Amino acid sequence: MNDSNRTPITVVQGASKVYRQGDRTISALQGIDLSIYEGSFVAVMGASGSGKSTLLHLMSGLTRPSSGTITVAGHDLGTLSDRRMTHFRRNRIGLVFQAFNLIASLNAYDNILFPLYAAGVKQTDDTVVHELASQLGIQDRLTHRPDSLSGGEQQRVAIARSLIANPAIVFADEPTGSLDSVTGQSICKLLRDLSDQHGRTIVMVTHEPSVAVWADDVVVLKDGEIIDRFPTNRYEDAQSLAAHYQQIVGESAMVTS
Ligand SMILES: Nc1ncnc2c1ncn2[C@@H]1O[C@H](COP(=O)(O)OP(=O)(O)O)[C@@H](O)[C@H]1O
Ligand SMILES: [Mg+2]
Repeated sequence: MNDSNRTPITVVQGASKVYRQGDRTISALQGIDLSIYEGSFVAVMGASGSGKSTLLHLMSGLTRPSSGTITVAGHDLGTLSDRRMTHFRRNRIGLVFQAFNLIASLNAYDNILFPLYAAGVKQTDDTVVHELASQLGIQDRLTHRPDSLSGGEQQRVAIARSLIANPAIVFADEPTGSLDSVTGQSICKLLRDLSDQHGRTIVMVTHEPSVAVWADDVVVLKDGEIIDRFPTNRYEDAQSLAAHYQQIVGESAMVTS
């Protein structure tokens, strides 16, 4: 698809992030430019410490850049107060984590609705929970607490929770990282279906080619910089994508050394 005809939901321009620890500074991201188009499914790959989570945190408004701008649906996040940023996150952003982060004392149904409870919504819509649960294949698990759900079921609940407020974009940080490979692949298929059938915009961090291959586009980070972006349809399977990934990560090491 021609990107110039599409609307970017999120635009990152010249974003850098420096962490300070005592008198040490860590440059986690440097001069990132990235557009995420509406309805696209993007994978962010890179070695541990390359800045993947930091980039997700900036785009989701969990942290602010040291310099540069993040624009979401035309709004510059840098102009938002902390209070309005929290409001923005609750209403526009869906988050999925490697460790699921469900509330142990609540059943699946209440976990899914939790973001609305937290936002002070009194009247919640039962039908939306049931629709999401059925899209995600957990309709008969809603009365169960997390400790009686499998890892894959817990991640499905977490994905339903990320969608309950109908966000503009969903960020998933290593969503398959705690799952065996078969369950991980079923979560990938689910994210693919959410993109294809429901037009969800998804940005997923992973270091596994077999996970990244489900996305439309792959962005590769190395040492806080984007070193490549390519469409997955250029590769027949995860093996050939993995070979390209290894090659560019290696080539970049040669260029910079
Ligand atoms: N809150 C923080 N304070 C200090 N350094 C951090 C913090 N978060 C991340 N970093 C550092 O920034 C770099 C990028 O981290 P991160 O974005 O978590 O990478 P990734 O998700 O690719 O593993 C690493 O060197 C990491 O140690
Ligand atoms: Mg990370």
